[in-house]
Amino acid sequence: MSAPGLPMVVPAQDLPERVRIHEVGPRDGLQNEKSAVPTEVKAEFIHRLADAGLTTVEATSFVRPEWVPQLADAEQLFPLLGDLRGVALPVLVPNRRGLDRALALGARRIAVFASATESFAKANLNRTLDESLAVFEPVVRHAKDEGVHVRGYVSMCFGDPWEGAVPLHQVVRVCRALMAMGCDELSLGDTIGVATPGHVLELLAALNEEGVPTNVLGVHFHDTYGQALANTYAALEHGVTTVDASAGGLGGCPYAKSATGNLATEDLVWMLQGLGIETGVDLGRLTATSVWLAEQLGRSSPSRTVRALSPKDQ
Ligand code: HMG
Ligand code: MG
Repeated sequence: MSAPGLPMVVPAQDLPERVRIHEVGPRDGLQNEKSAVPTEVKAEFIHRLADAGLTTVEATSFVRPEWVPQLADAEQLFPLLGDLRGVALPVLVPNRRGLDRALALGARRIAVFASATESFAKANLNRTLDESLAVFEPVVRHAKDEGVHVRGYVSMCFGDPWEGAVPLHQVVRVCRALMAMGCDELSLGDTIGVATPGHVLELLAALNEEGVPTNVLGVHFHDTYGQALANTYAALEHGVTTVDASAGGLGGCPYAKSATGNLATEDLVWMLQGLGIETGVDLGRLTATSVWLAEQLGRSSPSRTVRALSPKDQ
């Protein structure tokens, strides 16, 4: 029997013993909310996530405020997180201006965000793909000189709302460019959630063949077609040990209309616990956090696990 609120543990062969969850709810989730979320609510959300055992919580973005007004309070929010010890708090930066803002507040982890397609580079960064890579190059160099950890996102790795299926070589090119700049890790984004497990395995193999090792790769799935967990399982079988997820399944992308919610952290933790894979996350506390946030946002969580574990609240 399983404990109440927890899955039965039945390990499968050849999977990692431990997975690091890169929680993106406060950034990727809240950047997409229609209503303004008060800075204090964001700070409490991040503290609750840390209290639930998440050790990497992407906190906010230092992008141009006119582009993402939901995260325009980065300067006010970041100092409210100063008491969080042992929790990595990466922030998104799109250019040197964003890096300077982040460094001025003491950020020690940043993420630049490239696209595998021209259309999304233009929509999200107002630059061609090569122009955006040229902007990132000195940003990554300067961050590394400052001893800051750099993640490189690659969006639209599988499909793009304007261009359709994305050829593997486009993704490989951008990943290699980000690694050559000095990024410490990459996150492969299925921004509109169209990937299926075979496609995931094919991309991971293509990256390995082109010199991008699995140990620098994280995966970032959206659940538009209900494939996010199946895709994650495929990535785990390949040896990936960093998985992005968003508490309560918050999210989407303001510059890609067909993007729906990210993989819900609770759904991910339920599967990983059932497989006997360590995450350090307390599922009960995490679920309570998503129920609390859903109350703040005035709507229920799309996560199946949150709903199953808190039926009276939904
Ligand atoms: P732009 O409009 O081309 O700006 O935006 P610009 O470079 O021409 O500069 C114009 C003005 O903006 C200047 O000010 C700059 O200083 C200022 P002025 O001289 O006119 O007074 N400016 C800034 N101010 C504050 N902070 C900054 C900044 N940069 C310029 N960082 C830009 C170009 C890249 C800035 C804009 O397009 C931008 O901010 N884009 C970010 C959009 C965004 O955050 N999208 C969501 C990211 S989610 C994602 O990518 C997917 C991911 O989640 C993975 C997945 O889900 O699959 C990662
Ligand atoms: Mg996302």
